[in-house]
Amino acid sequence: MLPALVFLALAAFAAALLWSPHAGRAAALHLILAVGAMPLIFGAMNHFIPVLTRTRIAATGLLSLPILALAGGALVVGALSLPDLFWGRYAGALLAVAAASALLVWSRRRRAGMLGRPHPCLAWYEAALACLVVALFAILASAIWPQQTIALRRLHLHLNTLGFVGMTAVSTLAVLLPTVAGRPDQEVGPRLRRDLPWAVAGTLLVAIGSAWFGPLAWIGGALWAIPLARLGASWLRLYRTEILALHGAAPLLAAALVGLALSMIFGAMAPMTAAGWFRPTEPALAFVSGFMPPLVSGAASQLLPVWLRPGVQSSWHAKLRDSLGRYGGVRAVLFCFGGIAAGMDHEWGLLLGAATLVWFLLQASAALLQALIIREGNPS
Ligand code: HEM
Repeated sequence: MLPALVFLALAAFAAALLWSPHAGRAAALHLILAVGAMPLIFGAMNHFIPVLTRTRIAATGLLSLPILALAGGALVVGALSLPDLFWGRYAGALLAVAAASALLVWSRRRRAGMLGRPHPCLAWYEAALACLVVALFAILASAIWPQQTIALRRLHLHLNTLGFVGMTAVSTLAVLLPTVAGRPDQEVGPRLRRDLPWAVAGTLLVAIGSAWFGPLAWIGGALWAIPLARLGASWLRLYRTEILALHGAAPLLAAALVGLALSMIFGAMAPMTAAGWFRPTEPALAFVSGFMPPLVSGAASQLLPVWLRPGVQSSWHAKLRDSLGRYGGVRAVLFCFGGIAAGMDHEWGLLLGAATLVWFLLQASAALLQALIIREGNPS
């Protein structure tokens, strides 16, 4: 199911980036975030939580959670594009709350039932899911508290982008890049443990601050900068060669970290642009074209082979990984340019992000086709 969710997410990203200049902004953003990213994150958590807790793989019933989340995401896109479907935003929120809460409860049970301590990445995933649940309750709350709709929308936006997606992404990146490079970073676990309070406090302050009291958001942004700077500094020290390479997943994962930092910087500049000091910035557009696409395409380049054929790793996996990562460095640079341009409200930034994604989708389809033919011919 995970490979299907990866392709669904990438196709949703490309379609939304191409569609966004013509569609309603909120609908296009939710096609990326709620239809593309949310079910994929749920699927990835289904896969990683047993690894982090050293417990058995998830039962098949749990696979329904990404589908429930997908149904919620599709409903909200419908509701934001068609006025007649206004109720869909609340129905979509309820479906997604049900899926996120079930995943969170399951994760807590796995934690309680395991031997020893879980990997610290698990606490990041649980914090991310808690942010999503609160973010969705904010949408439900706006139905009974309409005079707070604008504040609650801001709360929802930041809890989802920095909290749900940001915390899932940063913790996964911290573990994934050393795997991609094939050289462990002994500091990953302790650093994740140390940085979680900064990320949680940063997310809450940005969300509450932007909803009700602006100065708190600045403090929150500064707190979030701590984990990002520590992770970036350790990557530059340990994995500079892999990050600056022409091929592979590492440049894309590093580009994702840069994209997340850039969208936060654009967000911090928003009050100054509102005062007319600079041209308007679009942090959400930098997020969806400079951060999400390199994150998902980079992670997919590394993980698709394992997800397609779990178990003992062979030359089949290595070859497929090479094909998926070919020219990853060029795509990383293009995604960075696209993210900066989109964040500065240039439409071509979204189109550049979409074109780069379509390139990856075509390359990945050809690589998978070839790998499956080799697999048919040689089952080892
Ligand atoms: C099924 C779940 C979801 C529901 C029901 C929902 C609902 C909504 C609604 C009603 C709005 C206000 C739209 C407007 O004012 O025009 C909104 C805004 C927003 N939501 Fe969601 N949302 C969901 C999931 C997500 C997720 C998973 C993310 C991010 C990971 C997200 C990010 C955002 C952003 C960035 C905005 C601001 C859009 C803008 O600036 O125009 N939402 N959401």
